[in-house]
Amino acid sequence: MTLTGIEGRVALVTGAARGQGRAHAVRLAREGADVVAVDICAQIDTVPYALATREDLEETVRLVEAEGRRAHPLVVDVRELADLEAGVAAAVAALGPIGIVVANAGIAPLDETEPDPAAVWRDVIDVNLTGVWNTCRAALPSMVEAGVGGSVVMISSTAGLRGNQGGLAAGDAYVAAKHALVGLARNIANHHAPDLIRANTVHPTGVATPMVQNEAIARRHAAFPEHAQAITNLMPVQILQPDDISDAVVWLCSDQARYLTGVALPVDAGYQAKA
Ligand SMILES: NC(=O)c1ccc[n+]([C@@H]2O[C@H](COP(=O)([O-])OP(=O)(O)OC[C@H]3O[C@@H](n4cnc5c(N)ncnc54)[C@H](O)[C@@H]3O)[C@@H](O)[C@H]2O)c1
Repeated sequence: MTLTGIEGRVALVTGAARGQGRAHAVRLAREGADVVAVDICAQIDTVPYALATREDLEETVRLVEAEGRRAHPLVVDVRELADLEAGVAAAVAALGPIGIVVANAGIAPLDETEPDPAAVWRDVIDVNLTGVWNTCRAALPSMVEAGVGGSVVMISSTAGLRGNQGGLAAGDAYVAAKHALVGLARNIANHHAPDLIRANTVHPTGVATPMVQNEAIARRHAAFPEHAQAITNLMPVQILQPDDISDAVVWLCSDQARYLTGVALPVDAGYQAKA
């Protein structure tokens, strides 16, 4: 299928420095979008694996430009609404109005030691839920004003449809935040349908990125093999690649999905359908 409707638009992608966010940025650029690439490029104390660096974000910029499109990097923490709003204003001045939002930035500090559970809960909710709301809040006025519709995609998780991360504050917060995105997307879908702005969630199963390929997760799976077992897929594939998720994201942003809104779309090798 040839995708249309992305060419010439501006896509804002959060968590774009690496992993799935980078893949979404590059794939949207390949379909003809200019990209506002947002990332914190700094560490959050409660996260037991390294977050992205400025060099990672520069590499995303290079890859977007290699697709022949413009890239506008923003080193911004999605927890900071005022910074996002200022960054979006600068990006719109440089590239034009936002037409696509991929709210992808997230953390999963699943560490068995968890010295300060309340701090972990706060950080996960702040990044994975409030950060997505902040992203929409900052970008939507530009989309509405442009008057040509648009697509908001929030990256949730299989943990946004099932409670599969028990035992840790990080797991409770991750599941709660990822479920909450379904409601947030539905609310935005309802409110902005007259503007032809669509909002959907994507729910990946395990994807090969540093979020799950790190020592803290390896320790958790070694200590509690049932956690590793609980996240196996229905189809015989252990882990997906970022591009597998981008396939769905890019499609959701295209004209070919123009009547999909308020949908929670699993990309999970059947995980959600498991008996
Ligand atoms: N990897 C998986 O197995 C998996 C499965 C389901 C859903 N997800 C979700 O997919 C999304 C992308 O994760 P990933 O797998 O690419 O992990 P990742 O850790 O490689 O990428 C996340 C990116 O978000 C950035 N980020 C973190 N906090 C931020 C903040 N406060 N402000 C701005 N940027 C911030 C990080 O620096 C990093 O570049 C996340 O929302 C995650 O919850 C991941």
